[in-house]
Amino acid sequence: MPGNAGIAMEASCIPGDVLSPKELACLAETLAVDLTVVGPEAPLVAGLVDEFEARGRTVLGPTSAAAQLEGSKLFAKQFLQTHNIPSARYAVVNTPADISPALASFGFPVVIKADGLAAGKGVVIAQDESEATKTTTDMLSGVFVGQAGRRVVVEEFLQGPEASFILLTDGTAYLPFPATQDHKRVFDDDQGPNTGGMGAFCAPGILSPEQYKTVVETIIEPTLAGARKLGHPFRGFLYCGLMLTADGPKVLEFNVRMGDPETQPLLYALESDDFAEILFAAAKGSLGSAQLSWKQQSTACVVLASGGYPGPYKRGLPITGLDEAQAAGATVFHAGTLLREGRPVTAGGRVLGVTAAGDTLADALKNTYSAAEKIHFEGCHYRRDIGKKAL
Ligand code: AMP
Ligand code: GLY
Repeated sequence: MPGNAGIAMEASCIPGDVLSPKELACLAETLAVDLTVVGPEAPLVAGLVDEFEARGRTVLGPTSAAAQLEGSKLFAKQFLQTHNIPSARYAVVNTPADISPALASFGFPVVIKADGLAAGKGVVIAQDESEATKTTTDMLSGVFVGQAGRRVVVEEFLQGPEASFILLTDGTAYLPFPATQDHKRVFDDDQGPNTGGMGAFCAPGILSPEQYKTVVETIIEPTLAGARKLGHPFRGFLYCGLMLTADGPKVLEFNVRMGDPETQPLLYALESDDFAEILFAAAKGSLGSAQLSWKQQSTACVVLASGGYPGPYKRGLPITGLDEAQAAGATVFHAGTLLREGRPVTAGGRVLGVTAAGDTLADALKNTYSAAEKIHFEGCHYRRDIGKKAL
């Protein structure tokens, strides 16, 4: 609910506006739903899981309290600091008077983050003091990302390749997924503003075996233990956004869900056919030593976005070439689309995620891009360099 043109090809969608946790719980009761898996962050932070659990419904996702790891950047920074988990130095800005003292302890560039949820658009890397001051001022006043920016976190700028490490946990046991890599900036060569993510891939070597061990020991285990210690064990998908710095892996952010577009190449590489059973076990708190098997292939996804995204963009533009892209061997996952008179049209900033596999990363990318070229809608743009640095 409300679904999109792609989901409508696989399942029946319920039209209408997004409902409150209570209304969704009533709907799940009416439909006698066995398992609810919550995708996006907003309903998690709004307490959907709390509501379902109170009614005895089987649901996979963190409670509202546990979802604060994504819901508030400041909460996440304090959590990381309390549990000695490696992350960037930070300062908090509550009022314009705090800006100058906060910036004084950092060099440039510096990272300015809106505290609340901003659909991936609440982070700015400011190159100098005037840009940092203006960005922070616009966040505090609500001009930049509305309420989400009423409190701001200023952070030390970290350098290195990024990696997304996603795991499934029942609160105690956890099942790590292969690492993926996202591309956050809107244009090639990491130019332009941050977005929700413009493309991702899943291939061996994103984390070396030593980096993997360090991430598990210094980040994953202390995070899950820290959440239990706080009395809010984390159940669901935990996404750790990492920067692989010269001083070792550090946490850039937590998401309390799978990533978009990381999920497309990640699940495309899944071989096991018991994913639903494993999700059910995690929701019941009995994940145990469940395992998943993964294909010996690389996978990639490129996001086709609306003209103007991540700024304002038009909607309702007809999309062509979907069948041709599928025939070229890719799977086209829909995001911001809907069916109008039976035809797919654009309905959001990130419209489609064209996803394909290959024996090597180079093959996966070739297959992805040759399918993406078949798709057209007015203003469509996408990055041409997904995976290029890794190659
Ligand atoms: P976040 O939503 O906090 O992950 O930030 C979005 C993106 O901004 C990250 O994926 C990075 O590309 C960039 N970013 C965030 N924090 C930092 C940092 N401390 N240093 C450098 N880049 C950062
Ligand atoms: N691709 C990053 C995210 O889902 O937030």
